[in-house]
Amino acid sequence: MAPNRTDRTYTLQEGCRYGSASTAQRFGDQRPIRGLMLLQDTQLIETLAHFNRERIPERTVHAGAVGAWGELEVTHDNSDLTSAAFLNGKGKTSKVLWRLSITGPRPGHYETTRDVRGWAMKIFTEEGNQDFVFNSIPTFFIRDPIKFPSMNRSHKVHPSKNAVDPNMFWDFHVNNQEGIHALMMLFSNRGIPANVRQLNGYSGHTYKLTRADSYVYVKIHFLTDLGAKGLRLTEAKRLGGERPSLHTVDMHEHIAQGKFPTWTMYAQVMTAEQAATYRWNIFDMTKVWPHKDFPLRPMARLTLNKNPENYFSDIEQAAFSPSTMVPGIAPSLDPMLQARMFAYPDAARYRVGVNYQQLPCNRPVSHVYAPYERDGAMRYMTNYGSDPSYVNSALVPVQFESEIGASGYSIGHDEVMVGRVAGYASEVTDDDFVQARAMWDVLGCHSGEQEDFVDNVVDSLLGVVASLQKGAIEMFARVDPALAKAIASALGYK
Ligand code: HEM
Repeated sequence: MAPNRTDRTYTLQEGCRYGSASTAQRFGDQRPIRGLMLLQDTQLIETLAHFNRERIPERTVHAGAVGAWGELEVTHDNSDLTSAAFLNGKGKTSKVLWRLSITGPRPGHYETTRDVRGWAMKIFTEEGNQDFVFNSIPTFFIRDPIKFPSMNRSHKVHPSKNAVDPNMFWDFHVNNQEGIHALMMLFSNRGIPANVRQLNGYSGHTYKLTRADSYVYVKIHFLTDLGAKGLRLTEAKRLGGERPSLHTVDMHEHIAQGKFPTWTMYAQVMTAEQAATYRWNIFDMTKVWPHKDFPLRPMARLTLNKNPENYFSDIEQAAFSPSTMVPGIAPSLDPMLQARMFAYPDAARYRVGVNYQQLPCNRPVSHVYAPYERDGAMRYMTNYGSDPSYVNSALVPVQFESEIGASGYSIGHDEVMVGRVAGYASEVTDDDFVQARAMWDVLGCHSGEQEDFVDNVVDSLLGVVASLQKGAIEMFARVDPALAKAIASALGYK
């Protein structure tokens, strides 16, 4: 039965009323105390034992976060792109759960730190849940999924010092230079958001939007309607000391005061024919599609308008995955995306439990009937009662959408794949520096941004061993010799 929040008459967990929550039973009633605590004291034992178990495993990455509820409203006609019901019909709204995280640090870390932010959304639609699990920058540090654990460990604490170590960070990036474009974004002033209301979310990956007989490739962007705003290094450091929870508190206060932040959802749209001859590999998420090639097309508006009632139940237990997709949206061949589609539900089964989809923060608002996944820890509701737990029952037939195949999203379209099993690791070439160089030029169009970029990199490289400082300087020289020279001279090299 759902708890009645208006009746606050105290009981134990099994519903039995109890005299007081702050007494314990002991043998011997002398004062001052001289006596033994009793094993029969259910309240004391229950209270202590539950406390010992009140943590669930922390997310290995993106553990610290701020969350909110909101809605996504369709603002444009998207019917030529996708059949997804939640994106069709101007004015249509769907409930959203949103979680904005810092990637590397543990929860409780000061929030004005330089790091990529994770942008996760669960959209509750009549066709099932649609998750967007995005980042605050449009590219990524790697394009080979096998490197993901390594990259993250290099951003986290040193195995023996148990403290963040810039040597590890630069050791990874100097020796895996495909991430240079993402590094340029991280070390610009956008790498430390002023607040999370003024932060963008990007799919990074190429996805497909599909209709019954067609598909297009898209990159999806959520751009803040307040204008993106980052912090300069000195300001970020000051705020980190003075107001470590700044972003969480700022978001909570704005929503509580009815000042709801909004974002516009856009798509960059590319046909398969355009993709075949495009300058960039669209399945390499270290690259963007410049807006001049593929302009932003508005689709919908996101509004966050409700704080979580309880952080643990609404946000900590929330589980997002790029594999959670409704018909009308489909994955692309990006190997990172393919790997992520395995990683997230796997993490959720471990972190929250095998029945995590039943929790209120994750549960679809649409009809669910999945009787071939049964039992498991913390199963509740009816567990499909006596319905057959095996496929193809003639006794209790089940209705399927079609005879063969999967949901709309996994149709192969016209992608034909032929080949043989082969080892593969991507190689870094001069091409990987072209978009990074363009970004450096863009920074040059804004007064002081190039200088700030150099300061931000130098601040991180101070205290790093000379060999890695030199390696980083050589890497930035491939972006622009003047940039490398400025970094070298600030570090005291001739
Ligand atoms: C192969 C590459 C990647 C792997 C294996 C991976 C894996 C993971 C895992 C295991 C988690 C923790 C999930 C949990 O415990 O519930 C996570 C969180 C997250 N990742 Fe990734 N990730 C990858 C790349 C990316 C990329 C490219 C993006 C963005 C474009 C991204 C965005 C996020 C976000 C937003 C979260 C937090 C989700 C939440 O709020 O619960 N990740 N990732």
